[in-house]
Amino acid sequence: MPAPRSLYVHIPFCGSKCFYCDFNSYVTGTAARQTYVDALVKEMAMLAQDVQARYGRVQLDTIFFGGGTPTLLSLEQWQDVARTIRCYFELSPDLEWTTEANPGSADRELLSGLREIGVNRISFGAQTFNDTLLQAIGRMHDASDVDKSVRAARAAGFERVSLDLMIGLPGQTASDVEDAVARVLHSGVSHVSAYGLKVEPGTTFAKWQAAGHLVLPEEDDEADMYEALRSTLISQGFHQYEISNFAREDEAARHNLTYWRNLPYLAAGAGAHGYVAGTRYENVRALDVYARLAESGSRPVAESTAVSPLEAMEDALMLGLRLSEGVKRDPFLRRYGAALDEVFGRAIRSLVDRGWLLDDGDRIAIDPAYYPVANEIFASFIGVAAR
Ligand SMILES: C[S@@+](CC[C@H](N)C(=O)[O-])C[C@H]1O[C@@H](n2cnc3c(N)ncnc32)[C@H](O)[C@@H]1O
Ligand code: SF4
Repeated sequence: MPAPRSLYVHIPFCGSKCFYCDFNSYVTGTAARQTYVDALVKEMAMLAQDVQARYGRVQLDTIFFGGGTPTLLSLEQWQDVARTIRCYFELSPDLEWTTEANPGSADRELLSGLREIGVNRISFGAQTFNDTLLQAIGRMHDASDVDKSVRAARAAGFERVSLDLMIGLPGQTASDVEDAVARVLHSGVSHVSAYGLKVEPGTTFAKWQAAGHLVLPEEDDEADMYEALRSTLISQGFHQYEISNFAREDEAARHNLTYWRNLPYLAAGAGAHGYVAGTRYENVRALDVYARLAESGSRPVAESTAVSPLEAMEDALMLGLRLSEGVKRDPFLRRYGAALDEVFGRAIRSLVDRGWLLDDGDRIAIDPAYYPVANEIFASFIGVAAR
């Protein structure tokens, strides 16, 4: 397996908890953030040493700070973490360094400071541009904050700005989605992620749903919202390079392509997941346990699992088929030492016969008309390799 060239860093703090969100994030005071940054710096040193022992000093092509809300850290805390990264890793001259941010959470000074550190791409969680809906899902920002944040990021020198949108929200209609897409286009951003709401166990929405208080759009209505969003973005020059992701030319998120191409990546921070040397690992989620382990000189890993060759091939399909480029036969054979059709031939033929998969001889890809049933397509590959 090649050396990892990507690093994910998790920042688990939020100003408040959105009603739908089960990401590992906590609402805390400022002291907890400093304790966390101190531990994170220590974890990164240990992670880098382990990686160096195997691969020598590695060069990073992409870094992604996700959360939570990474822009809740102070500029000094960012500088601390950035210094650590530069100390232990080479950075590619063409580095893509993304941070997630909440609209309204980053002021001009922080944004300029981030650019100086080397962060060159920013992704704001807009979700929708309807203020009533934003309140209904527990967001702290309003639609005007999104426009302001995009403008502030540009003024600070961010040329690459992305917005997250959500569809299938309670009370959302196709016209809300059309309005959101129009506002996104007007904002001039070069990348859009669009996620269908998932009601995750343990969230406020899950409790409301159990009590019968959460009314969601019908499946067909959500499919119409997705199609409206998809067709408008494509007609305006965006390329749908992944089921939930749209980009202008050369603007795809290179960091996320690492995941979908099943390539290795490093991860640091509470609850972060990494994939190195054929092993997937997951860090402990709780902040106190995380900090205690890192401070005592142990990697804060909760679980690590060696991925078998068959599982790696299944992962390659489940992840790669999310991409419009699909899964290519030659690289698959070179990487996994087995022909795609030898392992998955029967499932592929059946899906091609139904018209769900396209096969041009070099590669297979999901027909975009069947993206709404992608989960069913993925399911037909689970366990196939072992049969
Ligand atoms: C970690 S959050 C983004 C950063 C930032 N904390 C924010 O929310 O603005 C990543 C994105 O995942 C999406 N997301 C989170 N929970 C989701 C859920 N339950 N269903 C669908 N999308 C979700 C949202 O679009 C969110 O912007
Ligand atoms: S701001 Fe983002 S990470 Fe935080 S609770 Fe909301 S969706 Fe989750």
